[in-house]
Amino acid sequence: MHIHRAERIWLTVGLGIMIVFLAVITTAAVVDGFNPPSRVQSIDPTKVSQTPPFDNPGLRKVADGSYEAYYVARIFSFTPQALTIPAGSRVTFYVTSADVEHGFSIPETGVNTMVTPGWVSTVSHTFRTPGTYLLVCNEYCGAAHQMMAGRIEVK
Ligand code: CUA
Repeated sequence: MHIHRAERIWLTVGLGIMIVFLAVITTAAVVDGFNPPSRVQSIDPTKVSQTPPFDNPGLRKVADGSYEAYYVARIFSFTPQALTIPAGSRVTFYVTSADVEHGFSIPETGVNTMVTPGWVSTVSHTFRTPGTYLLVCNEYCGAAHQMMAGRIEVK
């Protein structure tokens, strides 16, 4: 079978790129330990308000400077709407949705996760600088999506 020279070059380049990509993924998985989130928690999205700890969302103090915050996202609000924590606190957020896909983003902190019904998203952050931090939904979830926000006061 005759393969044109230009076609052979393109095939070689394409194959080369695939080999490089596979090598990058393999290296990230094996050497850097990248993998999908483990200990993924699931939840019945129709029973969020009856399922502990989401039946009573809010802040829990774990130790000095260490908190857990349980959030329920639903169209078009977050519960709790506001949190107050001391500066320097490390907060682990546990967020689930009682209806549709939402986002959970605190700009300029690196906190940014999707909130998928049926699952609990987890993300941690240390709030070193005092101020008012905005919490926004950054996944389009309906007509009043842009109104879906909360705030975190760091004192
Ligand atoms: Cu919730 Cu957009």
